[in-house]
Amino acid sequence: MSMVLVTGGAGFIGANFVHYLRRQRPEWQILNLDLLTYAGNPENLAELEGDPGHILVPGDIADRELVTSLFQRYPITRVVHFAAETHVDRSIMDPGVFVRTNVLGTFTLLEAARQAWQGLKGEEPRFLHISTDEVYGSLGPDDPAFTEATPYSPNSPYAASKAGADLLVRSYYRTYGFPALITNCSNNYGPYQFPEKLIPFALSQALAGKPVPIYGTGANIRDWIFVEDHCRGALLVLEKGRPGETYNLGGQQEKPNLELVRLLLQLLREMRPELGQPEELITFVTDRPGHDWRYALNTAKIEGELDWRPQVDLEEGLRRTLSWYLAHQDWLERVRSGAYRDYLRRQYGAAVV
Ligand code: NAD
Ligand code: TYD
Repeated sequence: MSMVLVTGGAGFIGANFVHYLRRQRPEWQILNLDLLTYAGNPENLAELEGDPGHILVPGDIADRELVTSLFQRYPITRVVHFAAETHVDRSIMDPGVFVRTNVLGTFTLLEAARQAWQGLKGEEPRFLHISTDEVYGSLGPDDPAFTEATPYSPNSPYAASKAGADLLVRSYYRTYGFPALITNCSNNYGPYQFPEKLIPFALSQALAGKPVPIYGTGANIRDWIFVEDHCRGALLVLEKGRPGETYNLGGQQEKPNLELVRLLLQLLREMRPELGQPEELITFVTDRPGHDWRYALNTAKIEGELDWRPQVDLEEGLRRTLSWYLAHQDWLERVRSGAYRDYLRRQYGAAVV
C-alpha cells in the first residue's frame, strides 16, 4: 500500500488535489496534515467522510514531534507539500507567521522525511514542494517570461518566505541527495478558493452587491491557471519528474487585473441577469505596497519533458468557477463570517465590508 502525505490538503489547491488524487489514484492512501487555519476548511473535504483512503490529521507542519511521529507511524513514501501561509496582503500585515510556517514548517518536514527515508528500500520516495512564480520577482511589460533558471528576486514577505523554503528544498537535494522536486506555479483559480484572493473576492463582493476593489489602476498582469490543470501537473511531476529539478507550471493566460475582473463580472451577469450591472461595483483603491507588476512563466521545460500543458482556457475556467460558487453560496456565506470580516475591515476599510 502506498501512502502519500499531503500537507495543507484542507486549503484551496490542496483540497482540489486530494479530490483529484482520490479519482486518479484510488489505490493510494492519503494522510492529510493541515493546521486548519482560517484558510483550511474541513468542509472542503466533506465528500470524503467515511472514505478509508483519506485520513485528516489536524496539526502544524512546524511541530517537529508530530511530524516525526507521522513518519514513524505511517508508511509514507511520497510527500506533496502545499501547506503555507499564502496571501500577499496578509504577509504585509503580519510577516512573522509566513516565516514560521513557510520556512520553518518546510524545514521541519524536510528533516523528518530525510530521517525516515534513510536506507529506505523498495518504493522510491519523493518529496514534491509546491511553490509559486512570485519567487522570481516582477516583470516589465516586454520582458521574457520567467524560466526555471531566472534568479530569485522576491518582493513581498510571502514571496520571500516561499523563496527561502524553495532554497532549503534545493539544498537538501544537493547536500543529501534527498529526492526533492519543486514546482513554481502561476495564479490559480477554481472551486474552494478562499475569498480573499482576487477572483473569489471580486465574485463574493459582487454577489453581496458590495464594492469590488482594484488596486492602483488595475493594469498589473497575472498569469491565470485553472486549479485542475495545476493538480494534473503536480501529480505528473511527483511521478515522472526528475528529482532535484524545478518545473514551471503556468496557465499561458496573462491578463491585466481590471480586464480579468470585468470579464468575470460580465460572465456573472450572463449567468445571473437579476444582479443588474455588477461591473459598476468596480472601485479603484490605494495600491498594494511593492505590488509586482507582472508575472509570466515559460513552461517549455514541463511541456518538453513531461508533455504537460494547460487544458482549460480562461473563459471556460471562469465559467466553471462561477458555477461552483453559485452552487455553493452557503459555503461562501460561512467562510465570509467572523474573523474574515475583521480582516476585510483592516485591509480595505469599513466601506468595502
Ligand atoms: P491556502 O491558503 O488556500 O491553503 C493553505 C493551507 O495550508 C490551509 O489549509 C491551511 O490550513 C494550511 N496551513 C497553513 N499553515 C499551516 C501549518 N503551519 N501547518 C499545517 N497546515 C497549514 O493556499 P493555496 O492557495 O491552496 O496554496 C497552496 C500552496 O500552493 C501554497 O504552498 C502556495 O504557496 C502554493 N501556490 C499557490 C498559488 C495560488 O494561486 N493560490 C499559486 C502558486 C503556488
Ligand atoms: P491575489 O489574488 O492576492 O494574488 P497575488 O497577489 O498572489 O498575485 O491578487 C491578484 C492580483 O489582483 C494582484 O495584482 C493584486 C490584485 N488585487 C486587487 O486589485 N484587488 C484585491 O482586492 C485583491 C485581493 C487583489
